[in-house]
Amino acid sequence: MSDKIKKILITGGNGNLGRLVSEQLLNQQQGVVKFDIPGTEPATLRDNEVVVTGDIRDTDTLEKIIIEHRPDTIYHLASLLSGSSELDLSDAWDINATSSFELMKLALKHQVRQFFFASTIATYGAVNNDPMPEDYEQWPENMYGVTKVAVERLGIYFKVKHGLDFRCLRFPLVVSPFAPKTAVTAFPSHALRAAHDGDSFVFPVSENVGMSTIFLEDVVDSIVQFTSADRSNLSRHVYNLHAYYLSAGMIARAAVEHFPGFKYRYEPIDSVEGLINSWPDVMDDASARHDWGWNPGYDLTRSVDRMCGLLRQES
Ligand SMILES: NC(=O)c1ccc[n+]([C@@H]2O[C@H](COP(=O)([O-])OP(=O)(O)OC[C@H]3O[C@@H](n4cnc5c(N)ncnc54)[C@H](O)[C@@H]3O)[C@@H](O)[C@H]2O)c1
Repeated sequence: MSDKIKKILITGGNGNLGRLVSEQLLNQQQGVVKFDIPGTEPATLRDNEVVVTGDIRDTDTLEKIIIEHRPDTIYHLASLLSGSSELDLSDAWDINATSSFELMKLALKHQVRQFFFASTIATYGAVNNDPMPEDYEQWPENMYGVTKVAVERLGIYFKVKHGLDFRCLRFPLVVSPFAPKTAVTAFPSHALRAAHDGDSFVFPVSENVGMSTIFLEDVVDSIVQFTSADRSNLSRHVYNLHAYYLSAGMIARAAVEHFPGFKYRYEPIDSVEGLINSWPDVMDDASARHDWGWNPGYDLTRSVDRMCGLLRQES
């Protein structure tokens, strides 16, 4: 990789979001170093793309990577998601929180200019205000949210006290053909895949239960756009994003329109329904729209059309 190319280290770079963010950066002629666990490597590498495997808890390896590749920016996406965080609280804390703290210290030590962190709507607890105001208090009710809100606070500390250009977006439910198995919010994506594959699907929530949602390609665009924004235009440390409201019934009906034989039923799991119900239907994202031009390109219809197109391309 030439020294003139801007280099970006993406932790969790082979995941759902990481691989597409990486594609977009590579298309812009930027250099990407993807870090992820062994076994996630892509089959082929593009020009200016490097893949390194390891464990995010291994600070020595991360330091070696930073020294060798000298990234200008870190996109920190490696994380246990909501389901797996609840299954192993110690791993969740170590992987999501402690490793983020260590990585921010390394970023400062090695003069990494910018540090992007992917946070979540799960940093909120039960919400009574809907649309939810931008400065609503954060009292998460699951371990995933607890670790994410801790990292938000750490990032703000490193920014305010030490000058790190910490940037953070809170994403709602993401509809994606690559939706991870272990996210509580992945059921709409899994329902569409089941419909496409001719399988039946059991929704873990009732028909009218839903929350604020965004499509994968808008997530990727938002990260690239936000991290390129002029720092002087940013009035907040952390921005909420929202594109549209989505309930289980809405995704079921959309799936039937595309795949008329789709069979499904609702068998709510109390813990999942409780969480989805606790999160807002609409997030106020006025600051993102004002400060750096956030404007989602996908509503429900466009998301489902695009998702079905991508699933058909895969098969
Ligand atoms: N998808 C969503 O709905 C959503 C919503 C809000 C926030 N986020 C956040 O966005 C980021 C990316 O999410 P995603 O949807 O791509 O999830 P993902 O599970 O596909 O990606 C996370 C990546 O982290 C890697 N990882 C996990 N443990 C690791 C470890 N110990 N060492 C190194 N790598 C490790 C995984 O292998 C995976 O590739 C995460 O931080 C997630 O919390 C996602």
